[in-house]
Amino acid sequence: MPLTHTRELFSKALKGKYALGAFNVNNMELLQAIIEACEEEKAPVMLQISKGARQYANPVYLKKLIEAAVSLSTIPIAVHLDHGDSFELCKECIDEGFTSVMIDASHEPFEKNVEITKKVVEYAHKYNCVVESELGHLVGAQFDEGEEGGAHSVSGHYTNPEEAVKFVQESGCDSLAVAIGNSHGAYKFKGEQHLDLERLKLIKKALMDAGMGDYPLVLHGASSVPKELAEEINKYGGKLGLDTAGVPEADIEVARRTGCTKVNIDTDLRLAMTAAIRKVLWENPKEFDPRKFLGPARNKVKDLVRHKIKDVLCCAGHAFD
Ligand code: G3H
Ligand code: 13P
Ligand code: ZN
Repeated sequence: MPLTHTRELFSKALKGKYALGAFNVNNMELLQAIIEACEEEKAPVMLQISKGARQYANPVYLKKLIEAAVSLSTIPIAVHLDHGDSFELCKECIDEGFTSVMIDASHEPFEKNVEITKKVVEYAHKYNCVVESELGHLVGAQFDEGEEGGAHSVSGHYTNPEEAVKFVQESGCDSLAVAIGNSHGAYKFKGEQHLDLERLKLIKKALMDAGMGDYPLVLHGASSVPKELAEEINKYGGKLGLDTAGVPEADIEVARRTGCTKVNIDTDLRLAMTAAIRKVLWENPKEFDPRKFLGPARNKVKDLVRHKIKDVLCCAGHAFD
């Protein structure tokens, strides 16, 4: 079975009111864990590859691993470039057959972000690839500088609804990553853990009112950073800070119902893998067969992915809609 196009996965997810898990892949065990969980739960899935993953594993290894996953499974699988930082990197991935790419020029001023995104869109669309772009900054709620609820500020870090409409119209991007208090990593919030979900609703409504229909939004930084994983890591010799904090799953569910069609998760996979590896090596200090710790790590990631797709994203059971 070939890859399934991101466009097709998005349109089915929007219709079915579920979110697609976009899980980061860096090696074979992560890929197997994601695919096995999605295959068993009959969930469509997006595999995403960052520039760092390409540097770590080599693009050819990743491509061949994904080919193996596709040939050994029956579920729809799309492949996406995560946080492409240049036209050249996006072009490389489009030429390699990725079904979607993200161009992340969100650090640039609005007009420059539009210009770079538009260039990627023009190339991508010629080769049947779709493009995600980002407007706003993923700084996390602790740096929101009073933005929450002030949905109409245009100069802050969070995505402004009217600017989002203008950005999509001018750049032609196919999906938009929003900044609503979300951020990457294991330390997302100081104090209350929450997203600016009111702003998300306003962004969705503004796009709808502007005639863009049920336009796909993307939520980056969607790991929930489970306390029990951080505690397990520390119990077995890790030194994570006590202030790890992720997005509450209840907020992800609201984001899903509000139209976040693609939900990005990487940190939680890393935590699960690390917790399992640490436990095995702590309890069996004489062990040196990597299969003895990578196997349990793969199982733990698989359980985590199963939980996400069934209980949070609700894409389980939708593979063959
Ligand atoms: O958003 C970043 C993703 O978690 C990928 O991280 O650039 O370390 O591969 P990475
Ligand atoms: P997390 O760090 O919350 O897993 O976010 C991952 C992400 O957004 C990848 O683009
Ligand atoms: Zn991201």
